[in-house]
Amino acid sequence: MPAMINWTQVHTRPVLMIPGPTELPWPVVQALNQPPTIQYDRTFDLGVLEPTTRGLREVFQTASEVILMPGSGRTALEAGALSVIEPGDRVLVVGAGQFGILMREIMNRVGAEWTEFAVEWGQPVDLARLSAEAERLRPKAITLVHNETSTGTTYPAAEVGKIARAVGALFLLDTVSSIAGLDVRTDEWGVDLNMTGSQKCLAAPLGLALVAVSPRAWQAMEQRKVKARSYAYDLLRWREWWIPVSRGGKVPDGAPRRQPVSIPTHLTCAMQVAVRLILEEGMASRVRRHEIAATALRAGVQAIGLEMYPHPALWSNTVSCIKTPAGVEPAAVVAQMRNHYGILIGTGLDKNRSTTLRVGTMGITASPQYVLPTLSALELALRDLGWKSEPGAGVAAAQKIFADHG
Ligand SMILES: Cc1ncc(COP(=O)(O)O)c(C=O)c1O
Repeated sequence: MPAMINWTQVHTRPVLMIPGPTELPWPVVQALNQPPTIQYDRTFDLGVLEPTTRGLREVFQTASEVILMPGSGRTALEAGALSVIEPGDRVLVVGAGQFGILMREIMNRVGAEWTEFAVEWGQPVDLARLSAEAERLRPKAITLVHNETSTGTTYPAAEVGKIARAVGALFLLDTVSSIAGLDVRTDEWGVDLNMTGSQKCLAAPLGLALVAVSPRAWQAMEQRKVKARSYAYDLLRWREWWIPVSRGGKVPDGAPRRQPVSIPTHLTCAMQVAVRLILEEGMASRVRRHEIAATALRAGVQAIGLEMYPHPALWSNTVSCIKTPAGVEPAAVVAQMRNHYGILIGTGLDKNRSTTLRVGTMGITASPQYVLPTLSALELALRDLGWKSEPGAGVAAAQKIFADHG
């Protein structure tokens, strides 16, 4: 007999409580299970792709086009950047974490002259200083990560949008870990490119990149001196090949249109169902659900005796970044939770890898059904590793939040 019971022996896979990819609703999984179709068939174009992108406009809170392409969050970021930025253009990159500074690398590849506005990880952005820097540089674009997944922080995108508008800069916003989980107001905040991926709070499979494009961003693409260097990911081709004249595109209304890249039909069908589920729930309720679930998770974590990593004013409702107790390795906690209790969470990233843990509450995992077992597994794993708290204290604290908001 083994000394310790392996509770996961009866499970086929760990539950994904990492900050994406996340668990999928069953109807979304089922939508993948169908014979192939071809993306230029009009039943697919008009029956799946078109209504999916239109539904996504409600999720993005925009009247503009939402483009859907094969790829991931990074594809969306790169497609957005390479479509509007020309070599030599000045760009101000807000770098508040691992994903903020990813934009530096992307901007290097498109030949931008970028300046980083460095923000201490987990700490607020000094808006007055950012505004002064934007005034000084007069950049063509300002980039921001709305929800910094590496540190579990949400930044004030509306305020940064105002700064961008005041200096006539395009506002490029990464919403990879916020769209469909937090309130993201693309038009109201003046976001020109809202760039994201399918696999987090949208609760769709990994494999699609999404970009909402404002009229100003289309204009910047039209006014380029040279064409974008990427063929596949030049967003302007969507305007030319796929968007009808009546919506500002170049395709005569009613004429057959072409997608600029072959579209993964199965993934789009799954996204169609994911969007339907989101709209049935309603964005306001969905945002509230993420808020309550994250509040419950944080209450549980603190009742266990752990501390949150970021500044309290920035706590994210989709990703919680938690400090590990002294002497406990995050990787050991992750392995113990996965191998013995069947729940996968993440360690911190880069310089926080050996000091923090990250837990996602995204899509369907923002619910008691997932949060309570995660806290239970966290308590047990810490206990196994020699760091003892009152058994059940974390679960009880979270349960109380759910009970109070039920
Ligand atoms: C905020 C943020 N931006 C960008 C990315 C990169 O996206 P992907 O891994 O889908 O390429 C991630 C991934 O976790 C992210 O959280």
